Amino acid sequence: MYARIAGTGSYLPEHILTNEALAQRVDTSDEWIASRTGIRQRHLAAEAETTSDLALRAAERALAAAETERSEVDLIIVATTTPDHVFPSTACTVQDKLGLHGFPAFDVQAVCAGFVYALTVAEAMIKSGAVRCAVVIGAEKLSNIIDWNDRTTCVLFGDGAGAVVLKASEEPGILASKLHADGRYRDILKTPGHLKQGQVEGSPWIYMDGGAVFKFAVRALADVANETLAAAGVEQADVDWLVPHQANLRIIESTAKHLHLSMDKVIVTVDRHGNTSAASIPLALDEGVRSGKIRRGQTVLLEGIGGGFAWGSVLFKY
Ligand code: UT7
Repeated sequence: MYARIAGTGSYLPEHILTNEALAQRVDTSDEWIASRTGIRQRHLAAEAETTSDLALRAAERALAAAETERSEVDLIIVATTTPDHVFPSTACTVQDKLGLHGFPAFDVQAVCAGFVYALTVAEAMIKSGAVRCAVVIGAEKLSNIIDWNDRTTCVLFGDGAGAVVLKASEEPGILASKLHADGRYRDILKTPGHLKQGQVEGSPWIYMDGGAVFKFAVRALADVANETLAAAGVEQADVDWLVPHQANLRIIESTAKHLHLSMDKVIVTVDRHGNTSAASIPLALDEGVRSGKIRRGQTVLLEGIGGGFAWGSVLFKY
């Protein structure tokens, strides 16, 4: 028994903020942002649009692409760092917005690795026989936790959501996945603010030691990708597509180089989406599928890394 992706979907909020427009607000430039990160623009959710709204749209599109009735769904997992509330979970809200009730729904918090974590959990639940049809979503309204006066972080992030429908199948399917975390690095990328006695205690904004994150990411992503390939007995040369977390074009290029993959086998959306944390991989995956690049039967490698530190990778046959 395998867990197989039956369909993908995504949603980007309407409003686009270009580097040029951002440079009117903080001391930066299109040249600096594009040359350091590859980012040219990002989408931002409307004031009233919540993470569960973005997640719902992506889920609806994934269900349509998978030609799956809502009544078949028996698990929802939302990977997010920007939930609608402390509780209930965003997954419970999405379940209700889909008009569904009763089956398990929960959030996974692994920041930019959230989607690979969520997909791995859903796969395990399908393989155990506990469920047969999961909607796995990565959704973020990062604009809620961006300090728009901090040029070292505000240029990097965006909002959006991506989703897949993962079903029990006799055909492959997810072939292997590997997850890691190392809490010793929790201070290099964080939003420490938390609720305490009616107040937010600690900074409510994203903080990042960019250089330290960059170094860690390059090494960890190459290692985990090779570890996942080895677990599945698949050679680097047999990977048709790499769908990496979209944080920085230079990190993506470096990972591709370590894996001996040319950039024409890599799905890149960071230029248009920025870093959408848990949403970035399913957004890029959906773009790869809808553009006709990623085709049925091909071998696809996902990999993500972020705050925690948490990282991981999933290899599957589409
Ligand atoms: O999703 C989680 C994973 N996150 C990532 O993967 C991000 C990883 N890190 C990075 O992508 C890079 O470290 C950054 C893009 C964040 C920064 O690039 P960098 O080449 O490491 O730049 P830097 O932080 O060393 O800054 C270089 C200079 C500094 O000025 P001084 O001190 O040299 O005078 C910064 O103050 O660039 C300055 N700077 C900016 N200048 C214009 C920082 N941000 C900006 C900005 N515009 N937005």
